Amino acid sequence: MVRFPGSQMQHQSKKMPIKIVVLLIIPFFSTLAYAQMHDAIARRAKFEYKAAIHLKPDLEHGRQIYQTCMVCHGAEGWGSRNGMYPQIAGQLKSVIIKQLDDIQTGNRGNPMMVPFTQPDILPNAQAIADVAGYISQLPMTPFNGKGHSMDLKRGEQLYKDNCVDCHGKRGEGSEKDHIPLIQGQHYNYLYRQFRWIQIGRRRNADDDMIKQIQKFHGSDIDDIMDYVSRIKPPAAKLARPDWINPDFPYYVHDIMPARQVDVELPEERNYKMNGNRVQNPDDE
Ligand code: HEC
Ligand code: HEC
Repeated sequence: MVRFPGSQMQHQSKKMPIKIVVLLIIPFFSTLAYAQMHDAIARRAKFEYKAAIHLKPDLEHGRQIYQTCMVCHGAEGWGSRNGMYPQIAGQLKSVIIKQLDDIQTGNRGNPMMVPFTQPDILPNAQAIADVAGYISQLPMTPFNGKGHSMDLKRGEQLYKDNCVDCHGKRGEGSEKDHIPLIQGQHYNYLYRQFRWIQIGRRRNADDDMIKQIQKFHGSDIDDIMDYVSRIKPPAAKLARPDWINPDFPYYVHDIMPARQVDVELPEERNYKMNGNRVQNPDDE
């Protein structure tokens, strides 16, 4: 039988499109599967949030659970000034509940904390509400980590133009819409979260915020975040500089540099004491 040199080629060229189709289908379906899996995780986190948000916190039970969190967030909930651990003291209760549910279900990637959100520590919605209630009433640090921006005025303007609608005039957030309080948070933590939200690494982020912040780079982010880290929380939320959480009298409080005595506090002279709290001159 005579074979024409082209016949084999022809036969092969018929198979090629199938390979290409298969090659195209695999990423298509895996992207779809990933999107569906992510949707399912987000739905589960939302379900858990709804279960916890209306429960009345039992603060004593919250305090007991908080003992497992102290090793990283500190007895005062002030985290670390270098921003590795966020300050969670004074964060809004709804935000803490949402973040715990997101971390527990995998909707927010936070490998370090996942083990501490598992059922042996946070067995149910009530436990989440309890620990969130406890943390949200702790007073905030006057020693949070700041940035080194050269242009805080610009940071203020960028904040006013781009963030106020959601995070509020002074970065106080919104309990109702579980938008985080960001005033007085450690600069490095703010910066890191902002970048992770911008590039999609923090999966639970708000879609509108992601769109809104795409235009910001380097010094824009420095300026905004330094400004935000310097917004003083209101007096009712601020601890006096030497405050130690009386709920944990035997804890070694200064194991991490959350409290730094050599820090410059030029405004301190204007501070007035109001019971256990510091009266913030900005609030008058
Ligand atoms: C092993 C250290 C560690 C332990 C223990 C730990 N956390 Fe965290 N937590 C972190 C780190 C690190 C982050 C920030 C991760 C990031 O940068 O995304 C964080 C973030 C958070 C946030 C989100 C804060 C925000 O502003 O979004 C909350 C809320 C929180 N932790 C609560 C808790 C509670 C409640 C416990 C105890 C049940 C706990 N953590 C135990 C390390 C820890
Ligand atoms: C459309 C509303 C919206 C806008 C605009 C917005 N944010 Fe957000 N932001 C959110 C929400 C909602 C979250 C919490 C997402 C989640 O559930 O994890 C968030 C989270 C953050 C966080 C992480 C806080 C934490 O404790 O982990 C930072 C930092 C932040 N925003 C800064 C900014 C800054 C700075 C701007 C302006 C340049 C801005 N955001 C604009 C809604 C918004």
